[in-house]
Amino acid sequence: MTGYFVSFEGPDGAGKSTVLKEVLAKIGSQLKPQYLVTREPGGSKIAEKIRDIILDPANDKMDAKTEALLYAAARSQHVEEIIKPALTAGKIVFSDRFVDSSLAYQGEGRDLGIKEVKQINDFATNKLDPDLTFFIDVAPEIGLSRIQKLRPGQEDRLEQENLSFHKKVYQGFLKVRAMYPERFVTIDGTQPIDQVVDQVIATLKQRMPEIF
Ligand code: TYD
Repeated sequence: MTGYFVSFEGPDGAGKSTVLKEVLAKIGSQLKPQYLVTREPGGSKIAEKIRDIILDPANDKMDAKTEALLYAAARSQHVEEIIKPALTAGKIVFSDRFVDSSLAYQGEGRDLGIKEVKQINDFATNKLDPDLTFFIDVAPEIGLSRIQKLRPGQEDRLEQENLSFHKKVYQGFLKVRAMYPERFVTIDGTQPIDQVVDQVIATLKQRMPEIF
């Protein structure tokens, strides 16, 4: 595949989605290849339906393995229908979350094991890995308090989990980052948003100069 695959990761409330939007508002028109922005869980019609099942607070009986498999199922569809065709066409794909979220949330947060969750995702994606991953780093306490302020009472099923779950997820992200030091770039998500955005852009220019 000849395109460029860039993912954004981080705990809930890190601000990934806003950062991604603002980065593209600033540099989208300068990018040479066509680009698309997508997100997980979701990103395609079928995958968005799976997303609704996963995140519905009413599904509080969902088993951890069911959850991991549903994320992987949504991802498989997303990869086949959206990501792979775009990369094959030489486009840049910016994805709000990808496999690393499953390793952190399901592997570590739900205690399924990072290795085990990696295996089902290797099957789901044919081992597709991002070329570059931005880890927007905020402590789980800060992320959660941002969400509670931003949309009180509207947290999804995962966001409703307690602080000790989110602390485990955060430790999971640190473990995953250590597994892939060459593609992970950590950005301090507690900085003012403009600084976060500028650091992402500077990293893209340094790591992928040919796309500008
Ligand atoms: P996300 O859409 O990033 O949340 P929001 O847009 O509200 O910031 O992700 C939804 C939730 O799903 C979030 O709590 C992280 C979780 N998640 C997993 O547990 N595993 C995964 O593989 C993915 C992609 C997300």
